[in-house]
Amino acid sequence: MTPRELCLIAPVIPVLVVETLAEAAPLARALAGGGLKVLEVTLRSACALDAIAVMAEAAPDAIVGAGTVLNAADVADCKAAGARFAVSPGATPDLLDAAERAELPLLPGAATASEVMALLARGYDTLKFFPAEPAGGIAMLKALGGPLPQVRFCPTGGIAAANAADYLALPNVLCVGGSWVAPKPALAAGDWARIGEVAKAAARFG
Ligand code: 3PG
Repeated sequence: MTPRELCLIAPVIPVLVVETLAEAAPLARALAGGGLKVLEVTLRSACALDAIAVMAEAAPDAIVGAGTVLNAADVADCKAAGARFAVSPGATPDLLDAAERAELPLLPGAATASEVMALLARGYDTLKFFPAEPAGGIAMLKALGGPLPQVRFCPTGGIAAANAADYLALPNVLCVGGSWVAPKPALAAGDWARIGEVAKAAARFG
């Protein structure tokens, strides 16, 4: 699956920090059951790699990948854990080389025209726009779309239910990423029904 195909599956990619392995399966089922079939498990918790495998098994219709993939070691680790894709806040030659060697679909991050151009030159035309709100948000994406109309983005960082639809209305935005679909209080309470409802509402943005 290409990064572009990946970004067309659901309008919102949940950006998840899974703190305990016990929550991985019900969280995956709640999100995928609500219609969000692409799940990004960030490598920011001790159990993230284990969570990727557990979530993939618990929600077989979901495509589970890794986020916060920063270097070649992260690529190797998440690939071994069964990640189907990787997301990075930025891009380095080392990271790109590793993802290509591993044949792991990668959404590298970019926030400026030069970063977009460097990735485009290496063949990446589908990018994470990060950090979306601090880096200029909708106005910046509109501006980038002028000289770089062939590039498509998954903006992430500061996006929530209130502004997701505005991002998704842009011609160069395929989907958005965000942590809002797994609210911390609902996670702490194990309120999977609530997370399922939030996911359902997010899936309707498509
Ligand atoms: C990320 O981790 O990629 C983003 O920072 C998530 O941003 P959010 O918490 O603002 O959705």
